[in-house]
Amino acid sequence: MTSDPSTTQTDPEQSSRSVAAVVVLAAGGGTRMKSSTSKLLHKVAGHSMLSYAVSAAQALQPQRLVVVVGHEREQVLAHLDDIAPHVSTAVQDQQNGTGHAVQCGLADLGELDGEVVVTYGDVPMLTGETLVELVEAHRAAGAKATVLTAHVDDPYGYGRIVRDGERVARIVEQKDCSDDEASITEINSGIYVFDADTLRHGLGNLTTDNAQGELYLTDVITIANQRGELVTAKIIDDVWQTEGVNDRVQLARMNREMNNRIVEGWMRAGVTVVDPATTWIHASVDLAQDVTILPNTTLEGATSVATGATIGPDTTLVDVEVGEGATVIRTHGTLAVIGAGADVGPFSYLRPGTQLGAKGKIGAFVETKNAVIGDGAKVPHLAYAGDAVIDAGANIGAGTIFANYDGLNKSTTHVGANAFVGSNSVLVAPVDIGAGAFVAAGSTVTDDVGAGNLAVARGRQHASEGWIGKRRPGSKWDEAAKASDGQVHPKVTESRAKAAEKNQQALNTQQAQEGAQ
Ligand code: UD1
Ligand code: MG
Repeated sequence: MTSDPSTTQTDPEQSSRSVAAVVVLAAGGGTRMKSSTSKLLHKVAGHSMLSYAVSAAQALQPQRLVVVVGHEREQVLAHLDDIAPHVSTAVQDQQNGTGHAVQCGLADLGELDGEVVVTYGDVPMLTGETLVELVEAHRAAGAKATVLTAHVDDPYGYGRIVRDGERVARIVEQKDCSDDEASITEINSGIYVFDADTLRHGLGNLTTDNAQGELYLTDVITIANQRGELVTAKIIDDVWQTEGVNDRVQLARMNREMNNRIVEGWMRAGVTVVDPATTWIHASVDLAQDVTILPNTTLEGATSVATGATIGPDTTLVDVEVGEGATVIRTHGTLAVIGAGADVGPFSYLRPGTQLGAKGKIGAFVETKNAVIGDGAKVPHLAYAGDAVIDAGANIGAGTIFANYDGLNKSTTHVGANAFVGSNSVLVAPVDIGAGAFVAAGSTVTDDVGAGNLAVARGRQHASEGWIGKRRPGSKWDEAAKASDGQVHPKVTESRAKAAEKNQQALNTQQAQEGAQ
């Protein structure tokens, strides 16, 4: 049990909002999830259900925030330590009911004065705004307890709100309901605000005299009424906010609804989403105005996308920062940075540590890992760049492999600014290719290449004259050879001539410049 006094109020303007405590009930088991992971750690839109409960509670700026844990408590405590290390926790060893859970939650908080809000760890859609409105309604009515309620089509399983006009007289659990009570469609969400004294008195007088033999928190309402105290209800129209998750079918429904809301929120903020049904955006993602998202795209974690960028189709980005106006098509990326105006995909795999500069390119069937690729540098086709430093303007030819692993060490390869690596080269790390250097296609580079040098590291071509005719006479190969005129294809001749002309022009220009100086 930890007892760190939680969020202390400092801002006087906000202090009118502040409540004495929020108790988040999270001790129950999640049997129907059939999981070795605590139900509260299962995720909705990328974040644990419990994290939503904690952040909604924080909107009330409570002087104390306590989470009551029980089932799978080691997992839950470790997770809380991660996401909200400053919240207090209390242990409920045996789940003797919601009333008992609140007793456990308050046990270490000492004398409380003011309002105590009770909420659940497994209602991820509940917002801080709703909690604030609940407390406001409670204050406006001058009530001693206010229950968040909803009208539902199928109230089965929920506690029913028994009213006496505007007042809430009692809450009756499903198993304790008369037929008349069972037909009531206003249900108890399980979320309440209590006057601290009303709660303390009620909890002190609970009995297990009910169908489940538990200490019901709901009986605090009956006890308050017996003391002549006012109990009211705040009805919420958005029923999703009161819904818990008990199994994986409900978990999927909740994820779908949460995603609908997130995607719609981004569309309203100026993001084009071509197919909302196949676009999944985690709650933590940040998108700028005029981003376009194409179908089958999933954006997770701390991913952020700057204005004018286009993502998808068929793209998953986890913790990826995408720069302004970049294009990312059919890509899987994790922990990467994509510069402004850069081009990625289709079929690119960006692994952690990839940083692509502005207007750079990572193209089709390219995998990168721990690769810092400079502005305007290009790795366009069929390549693996691991542990690479590729400076601005460099061009990495198709099929180039940065051979970074020798079975023992992962080593670095540097390719200098504007260097040109020919297709199908292997750069055996650690190795350095200088600025402006060329590597001939098909080279296996094991030695450093100085700036401005050409490296050729491959066997020379050898041709055996008439080999087919001698060794495969009469074969289809021989027939084809005999049928041909033996001339080089005119397109090849043409492009050879063009290349020669361009090479000559480059030399002439250079000489003319030198002559002029
Ligand atoms: C409870 C309410 C019911 C309401 C419903 C809304 C009571 C007696 N009944 O029903 O009126 O309509 O919630 O969902 O309060 N928990 C503990 N310790 C316990 C028991 C429960 O921490 O000993 C926690 C659970 O983890 C869960 C929450 O309290 O987060 C509610 O428990 P659950 O058993 O689901 O609620 P019900 O009894 O069905
Ligand atoms: Mg129960």
